[in-house]
Amino acid sequence: MSDYIEFSGVCKAFDDQVVLDDVTFGVETGTTFAILGPSGVGKSVLLNHAVGFLAPDAGEVRVAGRNLRGMTDRELAEIRKKVQLVFQSGALFDSLTVSENVAFPLMDTGLGEDTVEARVAEKLRLVEVEHLADKMPSELSTGMKRAVAIARALAAEPDAILYDEPTTMVDPLLSATINNLIKKMQLQLGLTQMVVTHDIANCAEKVADRVALLHRGRFVFNGTIEELYRSDDPVVREFVDDDSYRVERGEPRVEASGP
Ligand SMILES: Nc1ncnc2c1ncn2[C@@H]1O[C@H](COP(=O)(O)OP(=O)(O)OP(=O)(O)O)[C@@H](O)[C@H]1O
Ligand SMILES: [Mg+2]
Repeated sequence: MSDYIEFSGVCKAFDDQVVLDDVTFGVETGTTFAILGPSGVGKSVLLNHAVGFLAPDAGEVRVAGRNLRGMTDRELAEIRKKVQLVFQSGALFDSLTVSENVAFPLMDTGLGEDTVEARVAEKLRLVEVEHLADKMPSELSTGMKRAVAIARALAAEPDAILYDEPTTMVDPLLSATINNLIKKMQLQLGLTQMVVTHDIANCAEKVADRVALLHRGRFVFNGTIEELYRSDDPVVREFVDDDSYRVERGEPRVEASGP
């Protein structure tokens, strides 16, 4: 299988702050790849490179074998139809109903009203929120808003979806619902996916075929979740064993020993 999304030697700095430092990886077509790292490490910056919202200072980003560098705005718009980014906030339009939100990307596509209506219903059904079609976003829980944001991403019939912190600010029960949806998109629709998260236990572990750990601009790990848990790399251990993540996994805190 080939890689649908490929980063090779990607470097990015803002002024003199280096955020990405020679990042290389591929996301195999039809798989889900999670990128782990603490807040502020550069996960959202990395996702924005995958759809050309940011361009690397050095290195290349390819989608379906095509280099994003030098693409026209129109070509990048086509890439962003094929590769949908689901933002951290969900970013629904507050003044539109759920159905209207999902239909929004289909405006100006030349599709007839009946086709749009059928497609919106199909996508809402896929993410299991068809009963919310006429609600306003303000009436929805955070988890439901995330599901609707996924339905809106699906409206353009993409090849890939990238999720920015899909389970942040969502309780464990709703996280499970969202994780199940993410996995369903891969297994039922064959989508290629990237998920960036700080949450190993309630997110990456549940959805990812492979995981990478971003640390000081570099991937210090890229492998399966089992390999991550077995790794004896000190940076990996520090992240995996971090007390706050243990608590999220329902494990007891480790009491400091010694004087
Ligand atoms: N457009 C920008 N201009 C300048 N600095 C930026 C820009 N975008 C991001 N940064 C900086 O890059 C670093 C990484 O930011 P990023 O948002 O990617 O972190 P993150 O890993 O997504 O964090 P979080 O988990 O909190 O979402 C931060 O120090 C941020 O301030
Ligand atoms: Mg972020």
